[in-house]
Amino acid sequence: MSKNKTTSHKSFTLTNDQTGQTVKLPVYEGTVGPSVIDIRKLYEETGHFTMDPSFTATGSCKSRITYIDGDEGILMHRGYSIEELTEKSNFMEVSYLLLYGEPPTSGEYDDFVHNITYHTMVHEQIHYFFRGFRRDAHPMAVMCGVVGALSAFYHDSLDIWDPKQREISAHRLIAKMPTLAAMAYKYSLGQPFMYPRNDLNYAENFLYMCFGVPAEPYKINPVLARAMDKIFILHADHEQNASTSTVRLAGSSQANPFACIASGIASLWGPAHGGANQAVLEMLAQIGTKDRIPEFIARAKDKEDPFRLMGFGHRVYKNYDPRAQVLRSAAHEVLQELGITKDPMMELAMELERIALEDPYFVERKLFPNVDFYSGIILKAMGFPTSMFTVLFALARTVGWISQWKEMMEEPTLKIGRPRQLYTGSPARPYVSIKERS
Ligand code: CMC
Repeated sequence: MSKNKTTSHKSFTLTNDQTGQTVKLPVYEGTVGPSVIDIRKLYEETGHFTMDPSFTATGSCKSRITYIDGDEGILMHRGYSIEELTEKSNFMEVSYLLLYGEPPTSGEYDDFVHNITYHTMVHEQIHYFFRGFRRDAHPMAVMCGVVGALSAFYHDSLDIWDPKQREISAHRLIAKMPTLAAMAYKYSLGQPFMYPRNDLNYAENFLYMCFGVPAEPYKINPVLARAMDKIFILHADHEQNASTSTVRLAGSSQANPFACIASGIASLWGPAHGGANQAVLEMLAQIGTKDRIPEFIARAKDKEDPFRLMGFGHRVYKNYDPRAQVLRSAAHEVLQELGITKDPMMELAMELERIALEDPYFVERKLFPNVDFYSGIILKAMGFPTSMFTVLFALARTVGWISQWKEMMEEPTLKIGRPRQLYTGSPARPYVSIKERS
């Protein structure tokens, strides 16, 4: 087992050009990847804060969960590559790995699956809670509300200082997310909610709760269930992205885990993050036919036009997104299974990908297709409406969020996150009463 060593004798010296003052800052090395300069003493020693508005160069925590090398297109969880995990493992095993740090033994696996399975039902009162929403509400709006409201239902696991209660909340969240996501979908259709089935695995049960109806038996398609499971694995965690950082920041104020995960869902919703999978399909529909691709490529390159190619580019990956590689072949498997061999949307997507990958604008900026580019195509083929795509992302990411929250809570000290700023407003001035203002 590799150790995450954060004590180092290395240092970095900064010099103030005007005064010549120097300050020596400790440098820490992780197990792999770039080292970090610890600037915590910088203000005390120099009177300066640092400035990094979108956190492009700032490490916010130590973590042993997920590693990404954006230049090489590498993603690994607890040291295992995403390619191996999607090929050989399953979402329950990956969830255990993320949460506890090591892959489970077969006994641990059975216990974990049992625990998750027996937490899938939600409090019956939650059914009434749903009825407060309009039927045409966006399911992400419903999820923000309902997941936050779980803290009003499960009072017995809200003590964040008790490791057992933290674990129960983690299990509840992982277990109940598919139930709540399926309920959000069923509610939008006006169909009855389907209670979870304990004889099905995680992905199968989710498909059953979404597409089954009480009036007839539901037949599980193993190819679709496996593709669903792969999508869950591929979205399970992605280190300190916007939503995960939101969860950690909310958690740093000692908020309960249900509230923290609700904040993560809200942060994921935006089209620059999890909302991109919905935006990809909307963009493909807007493009419509292959002959219109050049027009949209030109718009994406035009700095005066806010249009961007959705599903392309990534803050960290400056190489092919490894998750997109896996999903590209999964998309073909699903379309084949469903007999959609000549899907116009898929053909349009492939052509768009081909043109963008050859265009110097995208090549020079290293804008490759990301995970959202293909997940939308698979989910659409399975029968999910675009409004559900980000919900599925949130469902899978819950295990990553809660693992990151658990890791933070297990640190010996918990300190509230509180960034600083460069103030550019008015200097101090006297108050003038409204009558005297010109
Ligand atoms: N289409 C056209 N141009 C783009 C795109 C795009 N999708 N993405 C980046 N660029 C350009 C951008 O205009 C800039 O050009 P220039 O250097 O000439 O000013 C350059 O590439 C660098 O862009 P950036 O905005 O500095 O890059 P970023 O790291 O801040 O943004 C991103 C990353 C994901 C927000 C962005 O690539 C984007 O908006 N992509 C489309 C939305 C999308 O697919 N999001 C899903 C991300 S993956 C899922 C997840 O992990 O959440």
